[in-house]
Amino acid sequence: MNHEDIAARLTEARERTLALVDPLSDDDLHRQHDPLMSPIIWDLGHIAHFEELWLVRNLEGPVEFGEMPGIYNPFEHPRRVRGQLELPSLDDVKAVMNEIRQRVLARLASANLDGDDPLLCDGYVYAMVLQHEYQHDETFLQTLQLKQGAPYQASRVYEPPRRRVTADGSMAKFGGGPVELGTDDRAVAYDNERPRHEREIAPFAIDVYPVTNGDYLQFMRDGGYARENLWSADGWQWNRESQADAPKYWMRDGDDWCTRVMDRVSSVDAGLAVCHVCYHEADAFARWAGKRLPTETEWEVAAGWDESEKRMQRFPWGDEPATPERANIDQLVFGVAPLGAYGTNRSPLGCYGMIGDVWEWTSSDFLPYPGYRTFPYAEYSEVFFGNEYKVLRGGSWATRPGVIRNSFRNWDYPIRRQIFSGFRCARDA
Ligand SMILES: [Fe+2]
Repeated sequence: MNHEDIAARLTEARERTLALVDPLSDDDLHRQHDPLMSPIIWDLGHIAHFEELWLVRNLEGPVEFGEMPGIYNPFEHPRRVRGQLELPSLDDVKAVMNEIRQRVLARLASANLDGDDPLLCDGYVYAMVLQHEYQHDETFLQTLQLKQGAPYQASRVYEPPRRRVTADGSMAKFGGGPVELGTDDRAVAYDNERPRHEREIAPFAIDVYPVTNGDYLQFMRDGGYARENLWSADGWQWNRESQADAPKYWMRDGDDWCTRVMDRVSSVDAGLAVCHVCYHEADAFARWAGKRLPTETEWEVAAGWDESEKRMQRFPWGDEPATPERANIDQLVFGVAPLGAYGTNRSPLGCYGMIGDVWEWTSSDFLPYPGYRTFPYAEYSEVFFGNEYKVLRGGSWATRPGVIRNSFRNWDYPIRRQIFSGFRCARDA
C-alpha cells in the first residue's frame, strides 16, 4: 500500500462504518442490546481511539503495548458493563472521529513506508488499524441482529447471484503428506497467522459444501438435541442449560421453522449453509453424521493447498483479492447466500464456499504456531491463546474483504452463537 491507497482505504472504511449505523436512533446507539455486545456508540468511540493510539501516538513516542486508556479500553471495561458507562452523543463521537482522522492523515503524509520500522514498513500498522475497523463492522452486525426494539433495516442491500446447487453429500479427499501452513506476510497478516511452517498431514476427507439448514433439520428431526451420546460432556451441559433445540434465531412455524435475519423473517431455506450454531452443536451434528469437525490445519489445506504446485494459495480461487463478486462477503447481501451461488469460490481440493457466508468452526484450540512472535501487541492474540477458545475460519457474509484470507484465524468460546457461525465436517481417510 502506498500513501494514497492508505488514505483512500481509511476513507472507505469509515464510510461503511457510518453507513451501517446511519439507520439507527440515538436509543439504538446507546442501548446495550445484549450482555454479549457493546452499545454501538462505544464501538464507534473505540474505533477512533484505537486509530489514534496506533496511527498517531505510537508513531510519535514509545510504543504502548496494550489498548488505549479511558472508557474505550476493552479490558478495563468488559462488554457486559459497557452499557453503564457515561457514553457521548453521536455528534460528539463523530467530531472525535473526524478530529483524530485529520491528525492521522497529517502524520501519514510524512510516514516512511519503505524503511526498517516494522510498524510502518509496507504500511503494516495502517493495515492493522483498517482491519480493526472492519472487524468492528462485523461486530456491529452481530449487535444489530440482537437489537432490541424494531429490527434493524439496512439502507442498502445487494442481491446475491441467482445460481444455486444442491449438495450431494460428497467429500473432497486429501491423500496426506507435507504441506505449508500459515504465512510469512508482514504487510497485512496478524501475528497469529505467522510464521509459515511445514506440517505432515494424515489423509482426510472433508465436505465439499458447508452443512446446510436442510442437513441440520435432519439432525434435529432425528432427536439430535435430545441424544446425550451425540454430545461431548461440555456440550451436553450447554445443551441442558441453554435448552436450545434449534440454531439461534430459528422460530417454530407449525411443523416447520422460520428464521429472522435483521428485519427479514422467512421460512428456513434448506439450501443455505446453517448459521448461528455454536461449537457444541457443530460437534454433535458431526458425531450424528458419523464424521467429525476438521482441524484448522485440515481446513486450511482444503481451502488453499495446491498439491500440483505444492503451495498454499491466499484464497480458494487463487491469489487474487477477495471481492464481493468472488464470495459472499462484505455485508451487503445481509445473509447467507444459496449454496454454490459463487461458482468460482472453489478451492484446488474441490471445496466450495470456504470463504464467506458463515465462519466455520474447527476442532482446534486457539494456539500459537511454532515460532510465533507477538507483534505488535500481546492483547490481540497472545492473551487469548489456550484451550478456552476454538478456532473459526473463512469469514462470513458480514466480514469485510480486507480482513479475510485462507490464513486468517478467528476464535471464540465454544458456546457462542450470536456470531455468524456454521461448519463443515471431515473424517479420517
Ligand atoms: Fe477493538
